[in-house]
Amino acid sequence: MTTRPKSQPDANDFTFVLVGGTGDLAMRKILPALYAALAEGGRIVSVAHTSLDLDGYLRWVEEHVKPHVSPPVLDDAAWTGFLARIAYVELDAGRPDAFASLREVAGMLHGQRIFYLATGPSLFVPICEGLAAAGLTDGARIVLEKPLGHDLHSSNAINDAVGRIFAENQICRIGHYLGKEAVQNLFALRFGNALFEPLWRREWVESIQITVAEELGVERRGNFYDQTGALRDMVQNHLLQLLAIVAMKPPHSMDANAVRDEKLRVLRALKPLQADEIRQNVVRGQYRAGVSNGLSVPGYLGEPGVARESATETFVALKAEIENWRWAGVPFFLRTGKRLAGRVAEIVVNFRPVPHSALGPMPLRSGSNRLTIRLQPNESVRLNTLGKVPGMGMNLRGVYLDLAFDQFFQQDRMEAYQRLLLDVIAGRLALFVRRDEQEAAWRWVAPILDERSHANAMPKSYAAGTWGPAAASALLAREGTCWIEEES
Ligand code: BG6
Repeated sequence: MTTRPKSQPDANDFTFVLVGGTGDLAMRKILPALYAALAEGGRIVSVAHTSLDLDGYLRWVEEHVKPHVSPPVLDDAAWTGFLARIAYVELDAGRPDAFASLREVAGMLHGQRIFYLATGPSLFVPICEGLAAAGLTDGARIVLEKPLGHDLHSSNAINDAVGRIFAENQICRIGHYLGKEAVQNLFALRFGNALFEPLWRREWVESIQITVAEELGVERRGNFYDQTGALRDMVQNHLLQLLAIVAMKPPHSMDANAVRDEKLRVLRALKPLQADEIRQNVVRGQYRAGVSNGLSVPGYLGEPGVARESATETFVALKAEIENWRWAGVPFFLRTGKRLAGRVAEIVVNFRPVPHSALGPMPLRSGSNRLTIRLQPNESVRLNTLGKVPGMGMNLRGVYLDLAFDQFFQQDRMEAYQRLLLDVIAGRLALFVRRDEQEAAWRWVAPILDERSHANAMPKSYAAGTWGPAAASALLAREGTCWIEEES
């Protein structure tokens, strides 16, 4: 018996329904990424509660989205083609019958359907129910923005409700750090080189620092941010994902579930923090007015949308530990904050000092024995070692080997969102967070969130343009170490 080959779905025949199509995220990230990702085809249906006709929406896109698309990608003919593929539907996504109005654009809804929920998480369930009621969910994919929920309980409730409508392999929980070229390079570094793996464990590693520092303040997102804070906005997702990738065992393949299984093992092995450890090992901060990049900037409490006596943290530094044979006893210091002294995301692996120095006294704070993986800006890997200063005598000094990726690879980097959207379109799930991973991350963060609300303590103040509150330095000093920028 002969069987006819199954016809392949046309990869360029898809419709991207962007819910929250006039929001900040749509404007700054998603639509610019779609412009770049849609070079070959596809259609966009933007939906929002804003009263606009198509021309009005296209003018909004021209005014607000175009500035976020820059040459060499921006091309006049391609931009015109992009606009021609957009439809706009005004609807109130929170209403159960809302998505019936998508009938207006029924002609555009063929091919692979993708729903991107660029809204607050409180709308995720009503939107999914609305989509199901409109009969639009079969075979579709759904993209859920972070933070998914407000805490473990609300995230479980959302995942349960969404899971009743969509199967896990239809759901893409997005955290854009996983789409960064530099983050995927971590996989290449760790699993493509036999050099590091034998050293990547407690016997050789003394501590690990993971920093994601921002110079910007909360910008126009004061309202959202004040309800969220750095723990939910960054730690629960981006930082814990980085930690998981740094600490995971090599997966047997890069298959989505093989990678996610190994990350999950790390997240589940995070040592739960008790109340006294939280007070000791978690520092929350909030920026006050200061000078950033030579300009005076207001404090957090003076930002639009922020409550006058807000206790929301804009900075977190903490010590985490992983309870398994590979990592027991190795502190992982995580740090993130807004309005810090620089924009940098990096992972610093401090190796243990030599057990005995045959060379005489070792220079203090030489920065040697260290691997620094810089994720942004200027993606690089630096290996600090000790070298001999030329001349008589064994004088040692810190030296380093530097690998700057932009010198090796001249081609432009793909924006994280663009990469992830292409993955959504193709149904590749490796760079999206599986439900159990997300649950494990919320479970670990939960006591910190609870402690914060019970204690109702104000976060420690730090001046904008600095590296955060002094308590963050003290946290490392207690462990006999310091943040990398404090070294010289
Ligand atoms: C987002 C957070 O997920 O990441 C923002 O919601 C933060 O608050 C941003 O500014 C940082 O991303 P990046 O790519 O600029 O480091």
